[in-house]
Amino acid sequence: MTTSQSCARVAVGLGGRAYQILIGNHALDQLPAACAALPGRRIAIVTNATLDRLHGSTLRRCIESSGKGVATIVLEDGEQHKNAASLALIYDALLRDRFDRQSTIVAFGGGVVGDIAGYAAATFLRGIRYIQVPTTLLAMVDSSVGGKTGINHPLGKNMIGAFHQPTLVIADTRFLETLPDREFRSGLAEVAKYGLIVDPAFFAWLEANCGALLSRDAPAVTRAISRSCEIKAAVVADDEFETRAESGRVLLNLGHTFGHAIEKVLGYGNWLHGEAVACGTVLAADYSRRLGLVCIDVKQRIAALFDAFGLPTELPALAPTDLVSAMMQDKKNADDLIRLVVLKGIGSATTTFASGTDVEQFLRNPHAAAYAAGNP
Ligand code: GLY
Repeated sequence: MTTSQSCARVAVGLGGRAYQILIGNHALDQLPAACAALPGRRIAIVTNATLDRLHGSTLRRCIESSGKGVATIVLEDGEQHKNAASLALIYDALLRDRFDRQSTIVAFGGGVVGDIAGYAAATFLRGIRYIQVPTTLLAMVDSSVGGKTGINHPLGKNMIGAFHQPTLVIADTRFLETLPDREFRSGLAEVAKYGLIVDPAFFAWLEANCGALLSRDAPAVTRAISRSCEIKAAVVADDEFETRAESGRVLLNLGHTFGHAIEKVLGYGNWLHGEAVACGTVLAADYSRRLGLVCIDVKQRIAALFDAFGLPTELPALAPTDLVSAMMQDKKNADDLIRLVVLKGIGSATTTFASGTDVEQFLRNPHAAAYAAGNP
């Protein structure tokens, strides 16, 4: 990572598709020059109504100052709108306005906008450029980086999608000032994930700086975002298409197999993604105990940090059979077995396969199940 006057830079080393992540409280100042350097004449901002009202005119002025023409496409907000209907809205607007292969999309929003706009960029005219301008903590540390794009299907989350890397990510931390508290806390679940899978010192730093992060202390928040992006950039550069079985990019799914099932069974939009991931990560820690990989102190440290972040750590009253049938749809599964990311300690993770019957038995009482297996 290098630091210039107002922003930190993290490089995602992907050869011909390498790009920079710019992080800081004036990172958006870099957007006009970045737009001016793009080949086409037109840029489409994809965003939601709330962000368009709060920041749309600033963003339009910023892009127009590069000499490019701007169109704005406004989507409905929320995970329940991450679907084919929202995607069709983008295609319709781009075709109506005669956008061409030289055009660029600017994805301006959280994970929902970023994933849909990225997938539109991956598929419109067989692929055009896009820039990610994330506005939530979760999007800054995870979904805007690494090129996973897509939409949900009624049968499962992120079931339709493509890998398509952005040409630039601009994480301007000023956008976090208007982010609702619940959304900010939700992003902290993904931040903690990086400590849990590879960096125990970062996890300990999060434990020690919980108060500063929750009060959105600027240096603490910038450090959390920068370290998360450094780890994600390294993981993505090493295993872009998630082809490794027990290491690499798959580990970024810690807590997500349980979490996606909770989101789906509760109904998309009821829990935020990071809330479901927090609960899913505690379940993954309990499942790791069941396998004898970690002791209770690991699970307790994770639950204590998420409690301090105000994130859920207990499974809501949902039928284990419903959760398991949602988990059986997960993209990572093979041969009708559920692939789970499990912990070997704070800062160390791997994967395991489990049958639906085993996971269902575990979910009937995750704490007791770990004890019953004789693991402390
Ligand atoms: N959010 C997980 C990944 O990008 O691989």
